[in-house]
Amino acid sequence: MNAGPPVIEPLRAIAVPKGNADSLLRSLHTAHLIDRTRKIVKRGGAIVIPVTAKPVFDLVGFRARMEDGAALPVRSPPRDPRQEIRERLDAAGIRLEEAPRRWERIGDIVVIRLPPGNPANARRIAEILGTVLDARTVVQDVSGIHGPMRVPDVRVLWGDGTETVHVEGGVRYALDVARVMFSSGNLAERMAIADRVRPGATVVDLFAGIGYFSLPIAVRSRAEIVYACELNPVSFRYLLDNVRLNRTTNLVPLFGDCRDTAPRGVANWVIMGHFDARDYLDVAFRALRGKGTIVYHELCPKEQYPDALTRRVTAAARAHWMNVRAIRTRIVKSYAPGIVHCAAEVQVAPQNRP
Ligand SMILES: C[S@@+](CC[C@H](N)C(=O)[O-])C[C@H]1O[C@@H](n2cnc3c(N)ncnc32)[C@H](O)[C@@H]1O
Repeated sequence: MNAGPPVIEPLRAIAVPKGNADSLLRSLHTAHLIDRTRKIVKRGGAIVIPVTAKPVFDLVGFRARMEDGAALPVRSPPRDPRQEIRERLDAAGIRLEEAPRRWERIGDIVVIRLPPGNPANARRIAEILGTVLDARTVVQDVSGIHGPMRVPDVRVLWGDGTETVHVEGGVRYALDVARVMFSSGNLAERMAIADRVRPGATVVDLFAGIGYFSLPIAVRSRAEIVYACELNPVSFRYLLDNVRLNRTTNLVPLFGDCRDTAPRGVANWVIMGHFDARDYLDVAFRALRGKGTIVYHELCPKEQYPDALTRRVTAAARAHWMNVRAIRTRIVKSYAPGIVHCAAEVQVAPQNRP
């Protein structure tokens, strides 16, 4: 049987004024609509973006319009970036062991840790990674994250600017990687909690940062209200920016020490994403309205996990006339030799008093 001529899909593209291109690209990226097989091109004052389908969102706000049949150059298939990095390092006479084997991508910034090597090669290595990975800036994580406000210690090795917008699970996080921490390793946890919070719930996040947990909960669950406490003024400013960026109407940022700012007797969920959480368990129990769930994090010697954690949380519950109904613990990651970062999701309920 004759199958007939093959159906050829029209090649679609969107033309957008240059000034609106970034925000449109972000929306198209989130909607997975960018056609990676063709190149984005400049045409006069416009940018033409190849797409796989017409977006469902309105293009008028971007002053953009669809262009069917746009002839855009085809992209050559992407090469394996690791292979390309290896080749470029080799060509530059840099030993592979001097370059990082892993990196973290936060928005358009790449964060690396440098293995011991010739310090004179650091900038050249960063340039190679930045170019191959199509980053704007490459920064070195010099000595990790410090103090109760969790401030990073980074230095720019290549490129310009440390402020970016990271998109994850449909949530946008504006941040400055040189001034506030971002842990992209906790993605699964952030999304899982957001998906478990029931519609109508009240949530208190005692250590909100730029909104790591508060934003996905506010955006993805239909929580009635999410109170987000944050002490660090820099993180708090980004938290405010991120509320606007994500157009959330159910997130209330509260500036200051959660001991003073956290509301009492309101919460179904309390989030404690800080290694000092054990010092604030009283604040968490006071935030609850009757039974509820506390998401608790701490650093713990490996051989004491999970007993010490369970004992600590159970004792704190008793001190507030509550019982632990269920507790789920897990190791998030190894933090230092013999020390683990662990977390517990603890369901508690008031004791029946005689
Ligand atoms: C570790 S960060 C948030 C990390 C995030 N939960 C994650 O896992 O990616 C903790 C935040 O708590 C803030 N913080 C520390 N002590 C605080 C307090 N007493 N009250 C409110 N915020 C506090 C810090 O400034 C920091 O931004």
